[in-house]
Amino acid sequence: VPYSGLAVLCLTRPTDPRWAEVAIDKLDALLIDHAHCEMKAASNALSLAARWPDRTEVTRALVELAEEELRHFRAALDELVRRGLSLGKPETDVYAHELRKLAKVGGAGAPEDPLVDRLLVGAVIEARSCERFKLLVDALRARGTEPALVSFYEELFVAEARHYRTLVDLAILVKGDEDAVRRRLDVIASAEGRLVERLGVQATVHG
Ligand SMILES: [Fe+2]
Ligand SMILES: [Fe+2]
Repeated sequence: VPYSGLAVLCLTRPTDPRWAEVAIDKLDALLIDHAHCEMKAASNALSLAARWPDRTEVTRALVELAEEELRHFRAALDELVRRGLSLGKPETDVYAHELRKLAKVGGAGAPEDPLVDRLLVGAVIEARSCERFKLLVDALRARGTEPALVSFYEELFVAEARHYRTLVDLAILVKGDEDAVRRRLDVIASAEGRLVERLGVQATVHG
């Protein structure tokens, strides 16, 4: 059943089914974008790690996440090197930029807790990566190409689902109010769904 993971992952809109074909046709561009995404995930987790100085367990979880994302970044970088590609400058990331606007005081979402929002925005980004890596795995399998990439993205698909849960759990832990966190997650996930629809189909992990 396509997109059966949407409810689990909080996503409100499925990715356009043409996305995986576009991504595979421009695989180099996708791999470069993906490497940048891993770097951003690592630096985002690290930048949040010390924001709850009295909550060592939160810091520890975010540092572990940052370490794992950094390993993903290195693996993605290795893949680029194998293909004779270089990282290059990141493209403007409209997707992440628009989502982060939600988590700013005075942003469209008017968050009562911008730091909790940053965890939830991160969670939604992980959920979308998870969905797309699965689409990519299925499409590569169907074409019968790139077996090494299939295993790579299969591993990452599992990791992204776990990261999604970790970030939602951390938001609940620091907020201390699961209902409030779930309601806010719904708002952010709906905004993300509209954004994904607006951005259309490109050879990027999110945009
Ligand atoms: Fe990652
Ligand atoms: Fe991740």
